[in-house]
Amino acid sequence: AGCFTRSPDGYLCCEGFLVQDVMDAVERRPFYLYSKAQITRNFESYREALEGLRSIVGYAVKANNNLKILEHLRELGCGAVLVSGNEVRLALRAGFDPARCVFNGNGKLVEDLVLAAKEGVFVNIDSEFDLENIVIAARVAGKVVQVLLRINPDVDPQVHPYVATGNKNSKFGIRNEKLQWFLDVIKLHPKELKLVGVHCHLGSTITKVDIFEDAAVLMVNYIDEIQSQGFEVEYLNIGGGLGIDYYHSGAILPTPMDLINTVRELVHSRSLNLIIEPGRSLIANTCCFVNRVIGVKTNGTKNFVVIDGSMAELIRPSLYGAYQHIELVSPPSDAEISTFDVVGPVCESADFLGKDRELPTPVKGAGLVVHDAGAYCMSMASTYNLKMRPPEYWVDDGSLVKIRHGETFDDFMKFFDGL
Ligand code: LLP
Repeated sequence: AGCFTRSPDGYLCCEGFLVQDVMDAVERRPFYLYSKAQITRNFESYREALEGLRSIVGYAVKANNNLKILEHLRELGCGAVLVSGNEVRLALRAGFDPARCVFNGNGKLVEDLVLAAKEGVFVNIDSEFDLENIVIAARVAGKVVQVLLRINPDVDPQVHPYVATGNKNSKFGIRNEKLQWFLDVIKLHPKELKLVGVHCHLGSTITKVDIFEDAAVLMVNYIDEIQSQGFEVEYLNIGGGLGIDYYHSGAILPTPMDLINTVRELVHSRSLNLIIEPGRSLIANTCCFVNRVIGVKTNGTKNFVVIDGSMAELIRPSLYGAYQHIELVSPPSDAEISTFDVVGPVCESADFLGKDRELPTPVKGAGLVVHDAGAYCMSMASTYNLKMRPPEYWVDDGSLVKIRHGETFDDFMKFFDGL
């Protein structure tokens, strides 16, 4: 069972807390509400799946960069997967062991690579120019950088094109015909680079895990080729991407265990060290985005529920047409059910959180949650229309704790101080 359940009389709860009580206690609206215990449970399912393998779970910080959440994941034993200099800095602040961190990306800046090199973070090579930049950074830092080659495996993850990354025309990684060039250049730089592994990332929201097996088989062929040229590669990084049940349909989706089992034999038989980079599957289902209804209106054939949250705080439905489950906080009622678009107050028609949702007509001020808001929601929030970024809370062992302040108008005005 997840962390959001119904009380015996039908009210939405988070780990025993009535969401309505939290709404009444929290001064700001909307806000994000997490379950710390669910984060732990999600990590444990990876830990169990990886039992008996040498492995690193590198949490994809881009999914959710709350410092308290990062510290918690680090305490549980996570490493971190980072895509900017600031994410590297944040991971260090959160106390992550650099030897369990990977710096990844198709446009890494030299100054950020210098930081990663100094700290001893693994670095993925994404392209010819990226390799050049890593060599420059290694010289500046005076360190040998442990590198992985990000290979574009040309595997179709069958997901929205915006979150597919491992197909041959994507901007990420290197294609097989260029492998030898990379190996030759790496051989020329023993003082700067140590090739320790290969990486691939297929895409996100993946719900068919057999493609991980396909990719791992390909990757192991690359490892064989690379080893035959005298490199001691040890790490197989198969990226992240496991999807979750956004529809709350009760469909049985693959678990971390199912995912790891597709590659277990291969990894075990070669004594490889497996790196896995989950973001969504660690954090998405630990959180609800909690809103209040501002009002209800009808235009033409459409009914709208207007809430205080919007595409500014949660852009996935607008950007990807993503479905996130929406419910009222109050008990399911016998009131007449109508079909509503759930929309925010932002001044454009792309501003919706859900389309054609069946709901009992809510009253003004009613609580309404958007589920599975832990991944790529707060971390993608903007201040469009000067809707300042919301505060975050979690339920921690029976207490409600603020884990991030909401942004204020004064924070915004500080950008102009002294100008
Ligand atoms: N590793 C790499 C190299 C990645 O590019 C990503 C995500 C991950 C790991 C983590 O993937 P996950 O396990 O979270 O699927 N904003 C989009 C998702 C973009 C994913 C980008 N890369 C969304 O809201 O659906």
